[in-house]
Amino acid sequence: MEIKILEFHRRNNETGKLTFLEGGVDKDIPFDIRRVYYIYDVAPGEIRGFHAHKKLNQVLICINGSCKILLDDGQDKIEVELNNPAQGLVVEPKVWHEMYEFSPNAILLVMASDFYDESDYLRDYQQFVNYLQGGK
Ligand code: TYD
Repeated sequence: MEIKILEFHRRNNETGKLTFLEGGVDKDIPFDIRRVYYIYDVAPGEIRGFHAHKKLNQVLICINGSCKILLDDGQDKIEVELNNPAQGLVVEPKVWHEMYEFSPNAILLVMASDFYDESDYLRDYQQFVNYLQGGK
């Protein structure tokens, strides 16, 4: 599995740092952003995620602190640490993901290509494997 890390624009100077991103094909986020959500105040040791999406594209940005993401496409499992607010991890559809080892101050910001839709979730690992094999 290829891991895609996006590098965002940085406007840093002695007064502080600024990063921006724009949504759309050929822009910083490679889709039109329809939803933004963020995960924070995660209790120590907790693991989030445990699902894949059928169609949703997402970019994960740890804008404060750090956390780890496990990506699993049914063949490879890859762990990525996010700790840079100017980088984004692309999570494509049909990739099982888990988020863990959140630092106490971590904020994980997510850009998503569509509105929330529970029917787009694969929340059971066996259902995910079946879906990869052409199931529903
Ligand atoms: P979930 O996606 O399972 O969170 P995580 O991946 O961090 O474990 O979502 C948790 C709950 O929040 C679940 O009841 C669905 C709801 N939710 C929304 O209503 N809208 C959203 O945009 C998101 C991401 C979740």
